[in-house]
Amino acid sequence: MPENSEGRENEQEEIEPVIEYAQKGDCSAIAEVDRDRMLQRLEEHGCPLREFNKEERVEQLKKEIADPNKRYLVLKIEGQTAGYIELVNNTEWVKKFKCKRNTVFASTISVIRPYQGQGNGPKLVERAIENAKDLFGAKYMRANVIMENEPAVKMWQNVGFKQVTDPQPTGGTWDGKPSHTIMMEKVLE
Ligand SMILES: CC(C)(COP(=O)(O)OP(=O)(O)OC[C@H]1O[C@@H](n2cnc3c(N)ncnc32)[C@H](O)[C@@H]1OP(=O)(O)O)[C@@H](O)C(=O)NCCC(=O)NCCS
Repeated sequence: MPENSEGRENEQEEIEPVIEYAQKGDCSAIAEVDRDRMLQRLEEHGCPLREFNKEERVEQLKKEIADPNKRYLVLKIEGQTAGYIELVNNTEWVKKFKCKRNTVFASTISVIRPYQGQGNGPKLVERAIENAKDLFGAKYMRANVIMENEPAVKMWQNVGFKQVTDPQPTGGTWDGKPSHTIMMEKVLE
């Protein structure tokens, strides 16, 4: 009997993204997320491509995911790695950047292009905040953000982060003009 497909065309199944701790087997896919970020910066904002050696990056990631002061969380959508966030608990950085005690850093966040603008970044940040509190006793979280990267600044603002430092030149460019970094911070509840 033929299957009745009436009404199915509009039936969009909501696939919930999965966020989990990175394992060794995730390192190659995380490196591909890095590659996508660099290509997006080159193609959309004219940032020169930094040398990217995937094998080296995978080896670095394997060490980093085993580091007790780091935590990589990967976002998977329908089994595909769509992004990740890296948390760093580093007392030297706390001193260097004159942060309050119990500050943990969201060092990198990246979602691949097909999954941007769908609220996936904020999901990663929310989970990272829970992890930072549970694992490192974090009371504050900081992120270093390129001020000219509008989607990134908006996302951090949307999840409650505020600019806490003056802009510092990166030495590089964004859309052909000099770019700057700012630190954004959230007080964790
Ligand atoms: C920055 C980033 C992590 C945000 O994640 P996301 O899942 O896209 O976040 P959101 O869906 O909440 O989008 C955030 C805002 O940016 C906008 N946006 C997202 N992607 C965009 C794009 N490619 N172009 C223009 N705007 C975009 C969204 O519309 C939203 O704005 P709104 O609040 O006015 O609606 C993601 O865009 C990304 O990985 N970019 C490349 C890597 C990067 O720049 N990392 C940031 C390091 S600090």
